[in-house]
Amino acid sequence: MDAGGWRFAVHADSPKGRQLADVPRAALTFYWPLQGRQVRVRGAVEPASPEQSAADLLARAPSARAEALLGRQSGHLESLDDRDQAFRTALARIEADPSLVSPEWTLYTLVPVQIEFWQADKDRVHTRLRYERSGRRGPWETHMLWP
Ligand SMILES: Cc1cc2nc3c(=O)[nH]c(=O)nc-3n(C[C@H](O)[C@H](O)[C@H](O)COP(=O)(O)O)c2cc1C
Repeated sequence: MDAGGWRFAVHADSPKGRQLADVPRAALTFYWPLQGRQVRVRGAVEPASPEQSAADLLARAPSARAEALLGRQSGHLESLDDRDQAFRTALARIEADPSLVSPEWTLYTLVPVQIEFWQADKDRVHTRLRYERSGRRGPWETHMLWP
């Protein structure tokens, strides 16, 4: 997270990756059940350049880069042996070529237009506060919300 927004990365050839390419909007939810707190961030998502996405992947551990090479995320897996064999092959490719990146790895930035804070109450009289703006450069407004 920085002034530009919240960053996360996905495999473009996954259900989530295809959904974000199709409808470039997302919500992020951070939930602390013991404190009864939640922060929800909503806005448009923007893909980084291939070079920035590659740099994001190269900064990760070899095992994470090998996993990205597997592809087919969320597709049906026939056996754990198939997974382990594919992972070993991908790791060997990474070790042979440390600059190898999965071209489907996509870094996204979520540019927030709404950030909502929820404080739960044991009697369900919850306190909610939302920061919102009409566009990425608009001024932030703050509103309390009905629970
Ligand atoms: C601790 C943890 C971290 C995760 N980090 C990511 C991540 O950075 N990117 C990602 O695409 N999925 C991540 N996932 C997996 C997602 O929750 C999700 O299962 C996966 O992306 C497949 O979603 P899809 O089938 O909707 O594409 C993470 C899961 C856990 C438990």
